[in-house]
Amino acid sequence: MRIAARLLLAASLCSAICTALAEQPAAAASAEPASRVMGAPGARKVDSIDASRAERVSGYAQMSRDIQAMQDDPAVNPATFWLLDGQTLWEQPAGEKKASCSSCHGDAAQSMKGVAARYPLVREGRIVNLEAAINDCRTQRQGAPALGYESKPLLALTTYVASQSRGMPIVVEETPDNRERLTAGRARFDQRLGQLNLSCAQCHVENAGLKLGGSVIPQGHPTGYPLYRLEWQSVGSLARRLRNCVSGVRAEMWPAGSQELLELELYLAWRARGMTIETPAVRP
Ligand code: HEC
Ligand code: HEC
Repeated sequence: MRIAARLLLAASLCSAICTALAEQPAAAASAEPASRVMGAPGARKVDSIDASRAERVSGYAQMSRDIQAMQDDPAVNPATFWLLDGQTLWEQPAGEKKASCSSCHGDAAQSMKGVAARYPLVREGRIVNLEAAINDCRTQRQGAPALGYESKPLLALTTYVASQSRGMPIVVEETPDNRERLTAGRARFDQRLGQLNLSCAQCHVENAGLKLGGSVIPQGHPTGYPLYRLEWQSVGSLARRLRNCVSGVRAEMWPAGSQELLELELYLAWRARGMTIETPAVRP
């Protein structure tokens, strides 16, 4: 019922702008500044490939002062509960080896500092995001079963590990190891999807800063994940956020952990290189 109601709402919010966007021929959409196409003075164009670093802004900048304050103050940031859970799990022995994360890695504030800033990375052709790196340790080093995507313990551990890089710049660069997958992610970002026939870039590049119904379209930077979303009333992963956007254009849903989503995660991290990690962020 709640989900059905939200889908209806999303459809009605989307109808005006999405119809206008979907009717643009692809070439015109990328050749013309968004302000002319949409007739909206607030529109700004940020090239998805060589975005000037100065022009990039986190979704944080577009939030109300109230929500910003919620993110800034750990005492009221609801993600703090997940963070504390993650800290507890970090110390807890698990699996056949009865080893805790801390028994090998020690103090996370030191051993995990800057780690999240390097993810996702590509190892032997496989895209490894932070969730997968943690699960690799669960299965290979603790002898425990992998934690499910979006499960509370995986979100908690990922939030705890990622928050050790809070304030540090994302350092995902193009390398011979990741080039192929990065290129695939970039192409996917520009590819039109779903019944609404919209690409990620049409919203997050061409029309970033415009309003879609009640929400401002952000540039779509993955700086805060995992984060607390008020709409979810929960912490969620970047994959969950992307699945929301994909369902918003009524495209076939890629499962969490799928290559399609991982390629997008990699591309988004590269696109946001140099931007500051905010985990755990709060978003509307
Ligand atoms: C038995 C020892 C052991 C245990 C237990 C263990 N790890 Fe690891 N972990 C390692 C080793 C060894 C590496 C690889 C280090 C490297 O590549 O530099 C690693 C790598 C990692 C990385 C990637 C680090 C990087 O620099 O890319 C993360 C994140 C991580 N572990 C998190 C965890 C978490 C969370 C837990 C508990 C759920 C855990 N580990 C449990 C030994 C362990
Ligand atoms: C119809 C326009 C639209 C399309 C198409 C779209 N998004 Fe979004 N996206 C949004 C809006 C609106 C939000 C913010 C929602 C909110 O805060 O309520 C958002 C949020 C995001 C965020 C979160 C940013 C943050 O600050 O946490 C990311 C990342 C993102 N989108 C990536 C993508 C990717 C990748 C695609 C393509 C698969 C995509 N989006 C397709 C409209 C769109």
